Amino acid sequence: MKISVVGLGYVGLVTMAVLSDNGYNLVGIDTDREKIQRLQEGEVPIYEPGLSVLIEKNRKMIEFSNSYDSIKGSEYTIICVPTPTVNDRIDVHYVIESGKKANEIDPNSMIVIKSTVTPGTAKMLSEIINKDILSNPEFLREGNAVKDTINPDRIVIGGRAGVENFSRIWSFTNSKIIMTTNENAELIKYASNAFLATKISFINQMADLCEKIPGADIKVVADGMGMDKRIGRAFLNAGPGYGGSCFPKDTRAIVSFAEDVGVELSIIKCTVNYNEDRIRSLVNRIEKIITDKSSRIIVLGLSFKENTGDLRESKSVELIMELKRRGYDSIKAFDPVTSQFNGIDLFTEVETALEWSEFVIVATEWPSFSDFLKRVKDKHIIDLRRIIDDKTVKLDYGVGLNATN
Ligand code: UDX
Repeated sequence: MKISVVGLGYVGLVTMAVLSDNGYNLVGIDTDREKIQRLQEGEVPIYEPGLSVLIEKNRKMIEFSNSYDSIKGSEYTIICVPTPTVNDRIDVHYVIESGKKANEIDPNSMIVIKSTVTPGTAKMLSEIINKDILSNPEFLREGNAVKDTINPDRIVIGGRAGVENFSRIWSFTNSKIIMTTNENAELIKYASNAFLATKISFINQMADLCEKIPGADIKVVADGMGMDKRIGRAFLNAGPGYGGSCFPKDTRAIVSFAEDVGVELSIIKCTVNYNEDRIRSLVNRIEKIITDKSSRIIVLGLSFKENTGDLRESKSVELIMELKRRGYDSIKAFDPVTSQFNGIDLFTEVETALEWSEFVIVATEWPSFSDFLKRVKDKHIIDLRRIIDDKTVKLDYGVGLNATN
């Protein structure tokens, strides 16, 4: 079976790689000529563990193209194009345009929307091109995207016709499949992301409270909460707030979408506002610890989370910019993937970075960082991710940890 994928970002490329590995012929379309050229030459333009190996392994099953003509003969055309936010509202025009184009080229190919879209988008496209559309939202996490696609917690497929047939292409995952309406599928994605984001803002507020209570530690509180199966331990790690290409965008989009239909999602609004203020509030605390603004500060990790090179809405970048704005003029960073970033000086070796520094701020939870920090002596450490478990390492500040502990 031939399957086309339109839009080759994280979701598109990972979907192609995993489906090709399960015996399907894949065609990937993107309007970015340079990206297609690099892919054709065997280069994978994003850092994602396991992705390039899988694409290389299945080269013969995969074709990359700039032209929608290559869609011809595909059983399914899976749309994975971006849905950016414009004035706090989600802009679905790339989805609609690529759906229309795909339909012109091959009206027999079933269109599947994987991009994150607000409820009603599949229906809108379906009315424009006058045929049924499937919704198949993606729940993969960057840094874990290949594994999440091979072994997802659940697969959601929405549509009026063809749902069961399409579900068969995912049978290799052995995951539970929810078959429902387009609207439910679209909403499951938003509700899930908004709920996870809310868990993060919730635990960050609890961390604020722990910091005021001698003897309290958010990690122990989160462990204790997480043992309750109704709550679960996942997404209860306190830190500098959520970033990335999904949570900030999706939470804002669902709030404004709901507003447009007359519903106030006040809980999600609080989640968003708290998260937007998180760095400013952490820097207030850091200012009390690093009183000399010419201190040499190294920030560990630049990406929005570990195991990725993605810097979109990165709290680490926001933190560095806020510290600079407040007058800290000797601040540099180290990141395991990124070695260049406009406006930020980066070290290429973590050892040199640590040697140079007086203060170390852990902003991203790369697993390697805790080992490095165990080895350094006489540094002031500010752990915004609580990666350091070693009781012999004295923290100047740890998120959610009372200073007297
Ligand atoms: C997220 C969703 O998890 C995924 O299902 C969806 O398809 C896309 O958005 P992703 O953005 O890749 O995935 O990253 P995720 O692992 O969810 O982390 C998002 C942000 O929350 C990161 O900044 C991360 O550091 C932060 N986070 C996560 C916390 O601060 N604490 C936690 O306990 C978990």
